[in-house]
Formats: sequence, C-alpha cells, structure tokens
Amino acid sequence: MAEPSLILASTEQGVSHLQLNRPDKKNALTEAMYNELSAKVREADRDETVGAIVLSGAGDCFTTGNDILDFRERVQDPAPRPSAGLDFIEQLMNCETPVIAAVKGLAIGIGTTLLMHCDFVVAARSAIFRTPFVDLGLCPEAASSFLMPLMVGYRKASELLLLGEALDADTALRCDLVNRVVEDEALEATALEMARSLAAKPRESVLLSKALMRRAWAARVKDTLEFERDHFGERLKSEDCQTALARFLERGK
Ligand code: COA
Repeated sequence: MAEPSLILASTEQGVSHLQLNRPDKKNALTEAMYNELSAKVREADRDETVGAIVLSGAGDCFTTGNDILDFRERVQDPAPRPSAGLDFIEQLMNCETPVIAAVKGLAIGIGTTLLMHCDFVVAARSAIFRTPFVDLGLCPEAASSFLMPLMVGYRKASELLLLGEALDADTALRCDLVNRVVEDEALEATALEMARSLAAKPRESVLLSKALMRRAWAARVKDTLEFERDHFGERLKSEDCQTALARFLERGK
C-alpha cells in the first residue's frame, strides 16, 4: 500500500488547505516535507481561484519543528546543503495570497517562527508556543530575531528567544502572537471560515492590501533571514548543539 502523503492538500471554495501529516512524529518537519510544502504553497499562490491558504497539523499538534535527525544529518553531510526549511520560509514570505495558520498543541521552533510569516493565526486552547533555540545551542531563524520583537514586543520576545519559555494560547493572544483562541474542536472550522470569507472578497484588493502592509519591512525581513542563516548554520555544527541533538536522539536508549 502507498505511504500516506506527509503533506495533505485540498482546494475547496477558493481555499487551499495544507496539512502537515506526520502525527506519529508530532509533525516534525523533514527536508522532504519542507520541499513539498514549498511546492504546494507556490502552486496555491499561482492559482487565481485560490483566495486564501490554511496551514494546519494532523493529530494532536501543529509541529514540533525541524526533525532533529534531519538537523544532525545535515551537519554530517560533507557537501553543504541549503536549508529546505528556510527555502520554505522564503516561499511563505513571497506568498501573495493570505495565509492562515491553525495551531493546536505544540508549535515548537519553526512551528512558531513560521507563524510570523502568516497573515492570521487561530490558536486552539491547547496551543503551546516555544522557540528553544538557545537551549539547543542554536540561535533564532526565519527572521524571528527581527519579527518576534516587532510582533510581540522585545520583553516577550526575550522570554521566548532567550529563555525558551513556553507561551500558552491566552498569553499568545495577549501579546498579539495570535488573532484568536477557540476550543480545539472549533479550530479548523474557524480557520476555514476565515479563509472562505477572505476568498469571497475582491482578490486583487486583498493581495494588494497584504503587499502594502508588508512593504515597509519586507527588505528588513529578507536581510535578517540571510544574516541569521549563516549564524544558524555555524551554531548547528557547535558542540553545544551536537550535544543537545544527541541527548534527544539517544533518549530512552
Ligand atoms: N524531531 C524528530 N522527532 C521528533 C521531533 C522532532 N522535532 N518531535 C517529536 N519527535 C518524535 C519523537 O522522537 C517520538 O518518536 P518515537 O515515537 O519514534 O520515539 C515521537 O515524535 C513522539 O514524540 P515524543 O518525544 O515521544 O513525545 P513527548 O510528548 O514525550 O515529547 C516533545 C514531546 C515535543 C517535548 C519532544 O518530542 C521534543 O522535545 N521534541 C523536539 C522538539 C525540538 O527541539 N524541536 C526543534 C526546535 S528547533
């Protein structure tokens, strides 16, 4: 029997719904998943019948971030590979169509930083946001060192990016990381309804308005993404990071 796709995609009533589908691994993102997501976002963005994109996770969480084994393999590969995760972030950055993230359970690492490139975030009551980069010997990525303080304020950004503290859904709402909090059972329906209402509006006007809102900081975001990229690559090779990755991979052995 064919393996189920790791990214489920459907389009209905002008809404493209992309779902991370690796629930047994808490939707941890592999290189192949990022590549597929990039292709699906690009395809949806080019489709003139699509007025909004919804991004969600199958199972009990959104995503626990980059697959740790993938991180380790990337470092061990003698031929340097571009980061498929950051390619995906660039695809989101360049996406003209509004993107709505529907987050339940854990949103760790890039699971939180990708939200800064979405236009709306609907959180389920169970949502937990964490960016434990420092604890892993890493540093912020996906332009989050610029976007996080901009969106949630420097104080809250320090709690997330330096202390690696977890935010629950209500705190995330209070600091503007998310637009609204709903019960878990209502999450997808709420995000899809929001997407359908966007898709019903004049498309050119929605796309133009999104572009205008992002214009002021677009160059800064791109610059930060590039600046962080090299630092993050270096930190991945560091002893602190290798020790932290090994600790996770060797748990319970
Ligand atoms: N990369 C690779 N595998 C992951 C993963 C990740 N980011 N997150 C979860 N998984 C896997 C686990 O290894 C486990 O696989 P197994 O059943 O084959 O052992 C499975 O998903 C279920 O996760 P588990 O760790 O058993 O669940 P838990 O509830 O005990 O713990 C977390 C959940 C999120 C606390 C823990 O999985 C974790 O710390 N993950 C890493 C998060 C992270 O650091 N991400 C990178 C940020 S930059």
